[in-house]
Amino acid sequence: MPADREQDLVLEGIVHDLNNVFQTILESVEVLAADEKWTSLARALRRSASRGQRIVTGLHESAPAVLELEAIVEDAVQFASDVLRVLRISGIEFDCDVEPGIRLPGQPTAWERVLFNLLINAAQAMRSGGVIEIRGHRSAGHVEIMVEDNGPGIPPEILPRIFQARFSTRPAGSGLGLHIVKSIVRENGGTVTASNREGHPGACFQITVPMQPVRA
Ligand SMILES: Nc1ncnc2c1ncn2[C@@H]1O[C@H](COP(=O)(O)OP(=O)(O)O)[C@@H](O)[C@H]1O
Ligand SMILES: [Mg+2]
Repeated sequence: MPADREQDLVLEGIVHDLNNVFQTILESVEVLAADEKWTSLARALRRSASRGQRIVTGLHESAPAVLELEAIVEDAVQFASDVLRVLRISGIEFDCDVEPGIRLPGQPTAWERVLFNLLINAAQAMRSGGVIEIRGHRSAGHVEIMVEDNGPGIPPEILPRIFQARFSTRPAGSGLGLHIVKSIVRENGGTVTASNREGHPGACFQITVPMQPVRA
């Protein structure tokens, strides 16, 4: 059997097994949801397992699903809120302003990951809560996405290193979040930059990607 085909079959097997794992979680969640005490946790688990299913299905899909930035941001905010609740980080507000109808190149799950990583970083930086602003606009053949927080900002001396793999200033940090962000943005022909906000404290991440032509 050709190596490519063999690899496809291995991947298909992994996708199949993981789907079964998520299915089992989703079924158990229904049992949990029956108890009023756990309803809200069950809702968060259901969303996470469904997201897991979308990610593994995406690994196996040859044609990417078409999804708009607005929906991707909504999913990333929802997922980040669920994770923050589990991490017991409270007082974080999301302020979204995304132009409708913006299509991005590549896989929606990859873009959700980009946004999720930026949102979690922002929330972790703002220890005593704050607002995370997410903006998405068209601009001269490009899509511009901005994620800004009102945390302490990024010390200028580490700015050149934050996108490097394994660079982290957090004790339990993997240092992979921003590296993944940069890889996905690059794969899709875009650029990402980090800076500090002007006039008041906080970090700002700006992504620019070529606009996707509208398909019939
Ligand atoms: N919004 C932010 N505000 C301040 N510092 C940040 C922010 N986002 C990232 N950083 C800095 O960049 C480093 C690398 O981030 P990341 O690659 O996601 O790794 P990790 O989150 O595991 O530390 C963080 O440890 C932190 O020092
Ligand atoms: Mg991170």
